[in-house]
Amino acid sequence: MPSIRTAKRRRYLVCPPEYYDVRYAINPWMTSGEPVDIGLARKQWDGLVALYRALGHTVDVVDPVVDLPDMVFAANSALVLDGKAFGAQFHAMERQPEAAHYRAWFESAGFETRIPSHTCEGEGDFTPVGGYILAGTGFRTLPAAHHEVQEFFGKPTVSLHLIDPHFYHLDTALFALDDSNIAYYPGAFSDGSQQVLRSLFPDAVVATREDALTFGLNSVSDGRNVVMAQDATGLMEAVAARGYVPVPVNLSEFRKAGGGAKCCTQEIRE
Ligand code: ARG
Repeated sequence: MPSIRTAKRRRYLVCPPEYYDVRYAINPWMTSGEPVDIGLARKQWDGLVALYRALGHTVDVVDPVVDLPDMVFAANSALVLDGKAFGAQFHAMERQPEAAHYRAWFESAGFETRIPSHTCEGEGDFTPVGGYILAGTGFRTLPAAHHEVQEFFGKPTVSLHLIDPHFYHLDTALFALDDSNIAYYPGAFSDGSQQVLRSLFPDAVVATREDALTFGLNSVSDGRNVVMAQDATGLMEAVAARGYVPVPVNLSEFRKAGGGAKCCTQEIRE
């Protein structure tokens, strides 16, 4: 059956894994002790970028900075909507210097850029869907930043409470399939937040814990093609059944830092 979904061209910002490694532990994935294969990480990342270009998307690249091993996770740098960038204020001391490097990129690219007053980690915890911004809290981004984002963009922001440290960012437990629907793992959210998600998205694709633990929900959808962790086999079938086209990727080396495709990809919405 041909896909019934339409892709929208996207613009992404990425940061090469030049200095990527796991050198400290700020989420449970980083405590495995498994060393990162740096050469393999580079190949996997190059493959991801080549894939975006092959799908017709524009990819911008920010220069990596020595001693910032998590800077590869570009999604945490900002939320960019309507040509405006709401920057990051990182929770962990180790990542705090990243914010200024990303801000410099957004400024030089001509975006109106806001320095947040409260801890927040960009698209790690902010997911625009339709006219709303879904906003995670519990481990990193503070609820006060949700309010700040709402005021900055003038869009209703829906606070969602994350409760499982394996899913420390919203984008590890939920992604937007398109402008009107999402996929998510309910167990990552508090009871009240699960109710909110059920009422806003009654037709959502619901993922299993098993697929969520493969970073299957750390996916990047253009409205048709869904770039997704190759091990999330159940979720791939579920999105295909809704008419989307799953595009499997292997980002095993980034999972060791608690990241997947989405974490490596900042969407720039002009
Ligand atoms: N090691 C990074 C951290 O804990 C991984 C960030 C992953 N990014 C994301 N968008 N979930 O901050």
